[in-house]
Amino acid sequence: MASPHSYVLVTGATGFIGAHVVDSLLQRGIKVRAATRSLRKGEQLRAARPQYSSLLDIVQVGDFSDAEAPSFSDAVKDVTGVIHVASPLSYTTTDNEKELILPAIAGVRAILEAAEQEKCVKRVVITSSFASVMNADRKAPPQFTYTAEDWNPLTYEESIDKKTSAVIAYRGSKKFAEVEAWKFAERKPGFDIVTLCPPMTFGPICHPIANLAGLNESNANLWKVASEDFTNLPVARVPFWVDVRDLANAHVEALLRPEAGGKRFTVSSPEKFSYGLVAEIVAEGEGFPWSKERVANLEKQAIDDSYDLDGETAAKELGLKYTPFKKTVTDFVKQALTIEGQERTTVP
Ligand SMILES: NC(=O)c1ccc[n+]([C@@H]2O[C@H](COP(=O)([O-])OP(=O)(O)OC[C@H]3O[C@@H](n4cnc5c(N)ncnc54)[C@H](OP(=O)(O)O)[C@@H]3O)[C@@H](O)[C@H]2O)c1
Repeated sequence: MASPHSYVLVTGATGFIGAHVVDSLLQRGIKVRAATRSLRKGEQLRAARPQYSSLLDIVQVGDFSDAEAPSFSDAVKDVTGVIHVASPLSYTTTDNEKELILPAIAGVRAILEAAEQEKCVKRVVITSSFASVMNADRKAPPQFTYTAEDWNPLTYEESIDKKTSAVIAYRGSKKFAEVEAWKFAERKPGFDIVTLCPPMTFGPICHPIANLAGLNESNANLWKVASEDFTNLPVARVPFWVDVRDLANAHVEALLRPEAGGKRFTVSSPEKFSYGLVAEIVAEGEGFPWSKERVANLEKQAIDDSYDLDGETAAKELGLKYTPFKKTVTDFVKQALTIEGQERTTVP
């Protein structure tokens, strides 16, 4: 079947998930316009894909927190679809509302307003998060399963409260940005929307980073467990995760499948994880020369199995096959090890 999309704008394209979305589109022969705040990073992304140079162009966009509302009117010119991945993701904030919540909402609003003006846009896929699904007060027993029907009950006031941690504020940023998108969709613009709500996302990287210190938030945790001597292993906030390559594929399928329009999906592996499991996989893994000496301490860590997250509906409706955790961890750690080796040889 011919693709209904020939030219797609991807925001957050030089980030961890966005770059995989770019590759997933390019591999299907779909032309991509990659949006980034940094032309330098954009050019690095392009230079690393010489075989796709005729299918990939870069557009510079503003920061979502700029006082002047960010505009995507140039970025959306002539595209038939948009995959909006960009959103602030940091837990080292000084003002949560200014750095996380307002920019996340402003980004979604700006992209949807621009898409409404560009008549050829037929679908916008938005990367939301399990953060906008989960209810931190809901505890098992009895066992329960989160689905795409669930919404985080956090109020705006709670998420901007100065006493609130960046973790909770981030959950608010994803919820209120997604709410903004669904409200916008109610006014029936010329396109439909799909939102994806993934939990922790891990896997090899394909976006430009200067060094391992520049790893995105989720992979940085994995690398720390694989390479540092912790007194105590970090405890996973939730036991759910997805491989970045599966998530990128989910974004593209959500764009291409007509029947996905207007839906919200939780995209999650059926396996659960803990950082203890990461340590075990690395310590036992073949091909990790440092393994037992270097991996974070090998304390057994129970995996929270008291509740579930539905990843099956997305698998069925978007045609996904989830990667095993062991492969995700192994592929990423091997890659990080190579990058670390290169860093060592380039340090004077
Ligand atoms: N990683 C996870 O575990 C995870 C899980 C669930 C959902 N998500 C969601 O997935 C998306 C991508 O996350 P990621 O892990 O790929 O993170 P990432 O590598 O940090 O990428 C985030 C992207 O967002 C853009 N961005 C950040 N702050 C911005 C701002 N203030 N204004 C404009 N653009 C901004 C960055 O653009 P530049 O390239 O211009 O710097 C970057 O490309 C986010 O929406 C995040 O909430 C991530």
